[in-house]
Amino acid sequence: MGKELLIEVKDMCKNFGPTKALKHVDMKFYRGEIRGLVGENGSGKSTVTSIIAGMQKATSGEMFYKGKPWNPESMVDAQRHGISMVLQEANTILGCTVAENLFAGRFDECSKFGFVNMREVNAKAQKMLDSFGIEKIRATDPIDRLTFEDRKLMEIVRYVTDETEVFVVDETTTALSLEGRKILYDLIHRLKDAGKSVIFISHDMDEILEQCTDLTVLRDGDIIGHLNREEMDAPDAVKKIRFMMVGREIGDAYYREDYDTSHQDEVALELKDISFGPIRNFFLKLHKGEIIGFGGLSGCGMHEIGRAAFGLEKLESGAVIRNGHEITSPLQAIESGIGYISKNRDTEALILEGSIHDNIALPLLPELSHKTFINPAEEKRRVDHEIEAFWIKCGSGKQWVNTLSGGNKQKVSFAKWTAKDSEVLIMDCPTRGVDIGVKQSMYALIAQMKKEGKAIILISEEMAELIGMADKLVIMKDFVRTGEMMRNPDLKETDIIEYVI
Ligand SMILES: Nc1ncnc2c1ncn2[C@@H]1O[C@H](COP(=O)(O)OP(=O)(O)OP(=O)(O)O)[C@@H](O)[C@H]1O
Ligand SMILES: [Mg+2]
Repeated sequence: MGKELLIEVKDMCKNFGPTKALKHVDMKFYRGEIRGLVGENGSGKSTVTSIIAGMQKATSGEMFYKGKPWNPESMVDAQRHGISMVLQEANTILGCTVAENLFAGRFDECSKFGFVNMREVNAKAQKMLDSFGIEKIRATDPIDRLTFEDRKLMEIVRYVTDETEVFVVDETTTALSLEGRKILYDLIHRLKDAGKSVIFISHDMDEILEQCTDLTVLRDGDIIGHLNREEMDAPDAVKKIRFMMVGREIGDAYYREDYDTSHQDEVALELKDISFGPIRNFFLKLHKGEIIGFGGLSGCGMHEIGRAAFGLEKLESGAVIRNGHEITSPLQAIESGIGYISKNRDTEALILEGSIHDNIALPLLPELSHKTFINPAEEKRRVDHEIEAFWIKCGSGKQWVNTLSGGNKQKVSFAKWTAKDSEVLIMDCPTRGVDIGVKQSMYALIAQMKKEGKAIILISEEMAELIGMADKLVIMKDFVRTGEMMRNPDLKETDIIEYVI
């Protein structure tokens, strides 16, 4: 039996001013498949899928859905017709509860004579959450209190209904921990088995090869090729896909290759028995030239430790100490040479309504402004250097950050602190959503920083990244340190897991 065609994209172009994000793209999506979509940052993955899901319009071209022309008015319109998408960026309405977010745009399902029955909304919302196995999120919780991961899970619940025929997941797994990923994987396989179509965007090649039934590669707004399951199982598949993505060979050397865990004696940053919220008397000494990795499940407390080290948490007792001084605010942290790459890049790490230049130059200001004079030429030179070093795909440094692709935003939030030459760097999931080529250069840069005597805290939900990069691993569970191990060639993910769960 042939596969049933569900969505067809024909000769589609999308221009943003001079940028050609899609160049005459043809694509077909069938029932019963989980189609992987891969390509470098800025290759057009989010653009093509967001057009299918009604978020924006193409410049030219046609779409067909179940054999009929498809021109959705909006995302809500598309969802009503069975096509929904979890966006790469956070898409929740702050100041409302989980239930209100879940029912946004469809309160009519729980209203009579124009009155919304909130008890019914809450009860239905909780039932939805429970049915996805996410009982830990309560329908009546204010959304602002949810972690980034839980917000993403809530969005998944919001977008998948009985009517869903096509479900697009755009680079969502990087925001999810192991448990969250499992919930999502189970869901997309259920949809596939029910004859729906899933479009799955990710930079994690292992995940793509494990979860998807087919694969399409994009490069610079063009479709480069497709792989079916059999081709994906071939021994040289990863190499082939990488080559298709980048157009050149990418070596396997990825993480650090040395096992030199030595560091200088000087302590660069000390957490002296800090207590706040559920974290009690946490201590840590980070030395110059040392990379300490923090791992665990997303709610284990490691992200909070990172925030505290940057002066973002109000401590009940203890202190964060650098150069003999206490750090009690992010401003003090920055002034003393600490940089912080937040996991929450859109709300904490970047000024979205500002240019790439402004974002990268911001932490440089105290250093570049001698009294009140700022040297624009020097500033531009430093910014352009970072744009080049990270291959930030943009027209120029003047382009606004909110028009960059997800991975290119992440590069800006990384570059911001490397431009400043910070002495201590706290990195919370620094490689989130960046493609393999750039990931490779970020890892090389981190290794280089160690050599230069910089001190680094690397917080990550990817065990492989921690094993590959850290001198010492601190594993946390339920806000407590459960294990510590040193870098060594025999260290495996399975050695760590027992401390995680
Ligand atoms: N609103 C916009 N204004 C200007 N350019 C845009 C806009 N939206 C997207 N682009 C550009 O279109 C290109 C394709 O972006 P897209 O977001 O589709 O990439 P992507 O493949 O999803 O990348 P990533 O892996 O980083 O998420 C990029 O060069 C991006 O800068
Ligand atoms: Mg994208």
